[in-house]
Amino acid sequence: MNAVEIEQSVSDLFDKPFEAESFIPEFLESFGNKATVIKRLQSSTSLSDIDGALLQRSNIHLKVCSEGQVHSVFNQLKASPATSKNKVKFVLATDGHTIEAEDLSGNEPLVCDYKDFPNHFGYFLPLAGIETVKQIRDSSFDIRATSRLNRLYVELLKDNPSWGVAENSHQMNHFMARLIFCFFAEDTEIYKGNRLFTTTVEQMSERDSSNTHQVISEIFRSLNTKLTDRSAEKLPRWTELFPYVNGGLFAGSVEVPKFSKIARSYLLHIGGLDWTKINPDIFGSMIQAVTDDEERGALGMHYTSVPNILKVLNPLFLDDLREQLENAGDNPRTLLNLRKRISKIRVFDPACGSGNFLVIAYKQLREIENEINVRRGEVGRKSDIPLTNFRGIELRDFAAEIARLALIIAEYQCDLLYRGQKEAIDDFLPLDSENWITCGNALRLDWLGICPPTGTAIKIQSDDLFETPLNQAQIDFENEGGETYICGNPPYLGSRGQTDEQKDEMKAIFDHRVKNWKSLDYVACWFMKAADYGAQGNCATAFVSTNSICQGMQVAILWPLIFSTGHQIVFAHTSFKWSNLASHNAGVTVAIVGLSNRLPKMRKLYSIIENGATEVKEVVNINAYLVPGRDFVVNKIARPLSQQAEMTFGNTPIDGGNLLLNKEQVKLLGLTPDQEKTFIRDFYGSAEFIRGVSRYCLWIEDKHLDEALSIPSIKKRIDQVRILRMEGGKTANDISDRPHQFQRLNVGLKSTTIIPSVSSESRSYLPVGLLPSSAIVSNAAFAIFDAPLWNIALVASRLHRVWISTVCGQLETRLRYSNTLGWNTFPLPQLTEKNKADLTKCAEDILLARESHFPATIADLYESDSMPQNLKDAHDRNDEALERIYIGRRFKNDTERLEKLFELYIKIAGKK
Ligand SMILES: C[S@@+](CC[C@H](N)C(=O)[O-])C[C@H]1O[C@@H](n2cnc3c(N)ncnc32)[C@H](O)[C@@H]1O
Repeated sequence: MNAVEIEQSVSDLFDKPFEAESFIPEFLESFGNKATVIKRLQSSTSLSDIDGALLQRSNIHLKVCSEGQVHSVFNQLKASPATSKNKVKFVLATDGHTIEAEDLSGNEPLVCDYKDFPNHFGYFLPLAGIETVKQIRDSSFDIRATSRLNRLYVELLKDNPSWGVAENSHQMNHFMARLIFCFFAEDTEIYKGNRLFTTTVEQMSERDSSNTHQVISEIFRSLNTKLTDRSAEKLPRWTELFPYVNGGLFAGSVEVPKFSKIARSYLLHIGGLDWTKINPDIFGSMIQAVTDDEERGALGMHYTSVPNILKVLNPLFLDDLREQLENAGDNPRTLLNLRKRISKIRVFDPACGSGNFLVIAYKQLREIENEINVRRGEVGRKSDIPLTNFRGIELRDFAAEIARLALIIAEYQCDLLYRGQKEAIDDFLPLDSENWITCGNALRLDWLGICPPTGTAIKIQSDDLFETPLNQAQIDFENEGGETYICGNPPYLGSRGQTDEQKDEMKAIFDHRVKNWKSLDYVACWFMKAADYGAQGNCATAFVSTNSICQGMQVAILWPLIFSTGHQIVFAHTSFKWSNLASHNAGVTVAIVGLSNRLPKMRKLYSIIENGATEVKEVVNINAYLVPGRDFVVNKIARPLSQQAEMTFGNTPIDGGNLLLNKEQVKLLGLTPDQEKTFIRDFYGSAEFIRGVSRYCLWIEDKHLDEALSIPSIKKRIDQVRILRMEGGKTANDISDRPHQFQRLNVGLKSTTIIPSVSSESRSYLPVGLLPSSAIVSNAAFAIFDAPLWNIALVASRLHRVWISTVCGQLETRLRYSNTLGWNTFPLPQLTEKNKADLTKCAEDILLARESHFPATIADLYESDSMPQNLKDAHDRNDEALERIYIGRRFKNDTERLEKLFELYIKIAGKK
């Protein structure tokens, strides 16, 4: 279940009268527990040590108690030994009037009226495996509102199918945006009276809903009519309390879809929510999925947390402004200059979604401006920061509508906070008619037109906030000498995920600049366009991006182009998980890259250190791998750079499947035990090694060929290989005269070390293993033959994993291994015999630790959440031993590891 579905079932449960008997199972069910699980919990011996309570291990301990007992039962649950023994996350007690609960991971306890519980359900989302950030926990409102609007939207489409077709989607989106505005306005007293919009619809429309659409349409008409024109427009008297809104929101068609009784009651229900609690950055992110068929399933799950957005905005420009504020002290002139500077800052997000980066930037600037006003003794002063300074491009129509609304709401809320309710309301209406969010394709639009870097003239002023033509770029305003900051979280798509149109867009941007552009991620287009834009004026950029553009071959393709525009990386945040609200979401791994052509002396490199905190390092240069140090690219080399052994590909069969066998096929060959020993070998590719899948191959040495051919079942297979190779291309043809064998015959005499060519990103270590010399490694893996064991210690180290993920890059969420690019280039300090002996011991310990869990596979053992402790310890000792060889101590984090590896690489590679 996702958060929105949970909200629905929680609301349904708490809307019903309380029933002590059924409360616990229904409560657990509304947080996604299956009925069978709950039954099992109830029927099996209770884990709880409190009479009548129910305990679900690692989740909740709860009890329904008699009236007035809530607090004491809550304390009992909390103190119960069973609670700690079973690692319970939540305790909860209720008597049907009050609820008292606590998230034992350290959040404030919650006490509320029973009926009010749905307003706090965000607090309990971890019960459903949804780990939320604090903002979401505190903002149950936004999820509830999204959930209800979603229900209304779906219900309306049932009765008005024509509103759902593509050509009318804008009309429907626009209608939803109007409704949201009305709900917000009636709760914030922008519309005077008690819930003016909802009450009017309730009172003026028939209970059977037959004229609901007409009533709403008349209200919309009044919102678009100046008070002085109302009598001429023949508006009904009951609309006269509605103000004139303008701003294009209510201009144009006032057609409203027809309402069923259910839709009408949903609408009234939505009006019952407290819309003053809306948080425009959270709400925007959630609500945009309402009209998106594909995203509705994951409704509201793509919320980007404010701290993550600030990871982009702070180093891009906010830190600098705050430092100036700090330095200004109480000096009125310096403060005034800073205020002027702020009023001319433009923030431009060319993939803005529902505008969350813009909203946060706006709120932060207002906070700084307010502090200036306070220090200058001008509290409550009207803001100098125009909303038009916050510009965006967004492909999806509804998201673009919501982005505008979110900014309008943010402006109102800031006015309320810094100036007071009267001023906020007085200045709110009529809305401005300028439009700053362009609905269109950012890769096909001219950014200079949409957000001119500087200028004073207003060339076109649209009179419709929501219906402006695409080319609204010309709306301009005083910002001569202003700064522009480009930011956002543009889409990531590897080449396989791109549509034909997206490939065309990539082509248009890169084809004339570089050959291998097809290997680039789609997000690279935004970096390139930002660098081109930056060449025209005072501007800096920072995007959240898939980290793949700073890894492997993309580095060599993209970054020389960006650097050639005069831009450099002035700050970066190395890879971290960008999680969202989706249930059990592991998040994608992203990096943040900040570019500028105004080059500061020192650059800032942020990274997450082992204890989870963020560390910032001031460095002279950040290269395209996001490592402190010189700009350069690691290229493939044929031989190892240092003392490591030679690593080659495994063996390619080119056999149409005839030399490869599963257990059943081996049986069908009908061999004697001796023949099996002579001809059948264990066969290992990546999957076989990692997941322990049994596979075999025919391995026939020339000296045994006659015997092999005398066995009909083997001869048949050899004949088929011959035919296939003779009909194949040159490589196959060349080996058609020895169809009993693989293309290459790479085997160890004593042992073979196997290194799979791809491995899951979720493992903390690369898989590597030692096979007997009889085993055959396939071409889906790499192999080192008869190598000293300390080579395994290298591959199994954290250092090597970090090197591989950086210089080889990834295939979607899998790490890609390469001998020539990753192993041969891996820089090693000169190893002494003692070092080698120590590492050999570490490698043995890792293998022995795995052995102790036989028959667990590599996949079982290396799940990063559940690695056995003795294996973890063995790897830890290995890392300790190897890292001490590099720097005499453990590295603090991966950034430090990479910095050292690159430094050494440049040193060793430079000498060769
Ligand atoms: C990862 S989302 C980020 C949106 C928002 N900042 C957030 O955090 O929710 C990327 C946004 O880019 C939009 N988008 C995708 N391709 C686009 C294009 N070619 N031009 C403009 N916007 C695009 C998507 O619709 C989506 O809203």
